[in-house]
This record gives sequence, C-alpha cells and structure tokens, in this order.
Amino acid sequence: MSKRCMKERAFVKKTREFSKKLHIDVVKNLLVFDELDSTNSTAKDLAHDGAEEGTIVIARTQNQGRGRFDRIWQSPEGGVYLSFILRPRISAEKTSLLPFVAALALTKTIESYGLHATIKWPNDVRVNGKKIAGILLESEVIGDTINYVVVGIGMNLNIDITHFSTDIQPRSTSMIHELGSPVDYHEFLQTFFIQFGSFYKLFVEQQYDRIIDEWKNHTDTLGKTIRVQTSTETLQGIASDIDQSGFLLLRTERGETKKIMSGDCLYFDELYHI
Ligand code: BTN
Repeated sequence: MSKRCMKERAFVKKTREFSKKLHIDVVKNLLVFDELDSTNSTAKDLAHDGAEEGTIVIARTQNQGRGRFDRIWQSPEGGVYLSFILRPRISAEKTSLLPFVAALALTKTIESYGLHATIKWPNDVRVNGKKIAGILLESEVIGDTINYVVVGIGMNLNIDITHFSTDIQPRSTSMIHELGSPVDYHEFLQTFFIQFGSFYKLFVEQQYDRIIDEWKNHTDTLGKTIRVQTSTETLQGIASDIDQSGFLLLRTERGETKKIMSGDCLYFDELYHI
C-alpha cells in the first residue's frame, strides 16, 4: 500500500473512531471523507435528500473548495474542512447570525491555544491581522421557513502557508505558522464542536443579544474606516455598529447610515499594505 493511501485511510478511520466518542448534542452524525469536491456541496445534496439537523460532512482535503462570492477556497491537507447541516426553527432573517455562531466558536477554540483571534465583519477569523478561517453559509428558505442551512468552515490548522498561492499568502496564516508547532487535529475539532454546540444553543434559544455581545467583544471592525464591496456597490465609511440580525451599519462621509446585509470588507488602514 502506498504511503499516501495509508495516510488517507488513517484519517478516515481515526476520525470515525473519534466521532463515536463524541457526545455533543449538535454532532448527530459525522460523515467522514478523505477527499471531496466541496463539503458544502455534499452537505447541500444530503440536506436536500432529508439529512437530519446535526449531520456534519468532513473531509481531509477538497478539490473544489468554495469561498464566499464564488471564490476558490484552497484546501490543502492539514486544514479543517467541514459543513454542518442545520434546520433551526426560527425566522429566516436570523440565519445571518449563524456565521457569527461559527466565527465565535472558532475564535474561542483558537484562543484556547493562547492566541488572540479577532473577527472581521461578517465572519473572517483572523490572527495577527491575517485570515486563519472562513465561513460559507448556504441555505434553502421557503417563504419565511428555513428548510436547511449549511454552515461550511475552512480552518487553516497545520498548513504550511507557502502551499497557498502567492496572491493569498501575504493575507493568510495558520495555527502551525502562529504557534511554531502542529496542533492535534482531533483535539482541535473536539474543542470546536463543544464551542459550536454552546453558541448554537444560544441561537436556538433565541438569545441573540448574547451572541451579538460576544461577537462585538471579538470583532476589530467596529469603529474602523472601511470599504465594503456589496453585490451592487462599493461603499466607504465608518463601521458604526451591527443590528440584531448581524447587518452592518455603515456611516458614510455624507453622514448617512447604510445597512449592509452582506459584502466584502476591507480596512482602510490595511488597504495599502496588501
Ligand atoms: C470564505 O471565507 O470565503 C469562506 C470559506 C469557506 C470554506 C469552507 S471549507 C469547507 C466548506 N466547503 C466549501 O466548499 N467551503 C466551505
């Protein structure tokens, strides 16, 4: 058997064994793959076919990982690539808080290793000003009823950042890069699932204020002069606050306050360094 094949088998076997020992409400069924095109795409197919809330798709690598705005999510081995299938019975408007749930769980997990992590609106997790994790939310909503939400997480764990393409290298970091030594994959996953479970509990209990307050404690966006690219326009101003659904309130130079549901956010003080 080739060395690579052994490594692949070991990942699937070890992760399946690990999942049997997990007793976390939000983790009902962990489906483990060596390689997928995208865990989000697989999760969406499964959700469409009726997979229950708490089904999680995880893969060692992805060959067509997707980021926000149809970007490619480079997914070399050493990263964490997983997607939750969730079916919360809440108003569809609140789904925009689910990436906050994931970002907070990631932030707390990273901080358990002694690093300081921040969140850039809406949901980039960063360490030392560089992106370490991203979240992709995809959902099927009928009227105001959520059929399913897929929350995809890509986390740079034991990735040598020189394995990323040169355009994203200067803006990216990983746990191994920050700590100087590798992090145990399954230990990280366990802490993350526990954290996700407790923030998701707040979410289903509709304790949105607590999620938003925690998010505000961890973001470095508020108060900054930013440029936001939405699907229709580019806006500039001061990120003054977020509302109860996680939408950004931007105070423009004209003194207007614009509410932004989704977009790509750039910090002015970083614009000319990247
Ligand atoms: C972003 O910051 O642009 C979001 C990146 C999300 C990447 C993850 S990796 C696991 C899941 N499957 C995907 O294809 N994408 C998400």
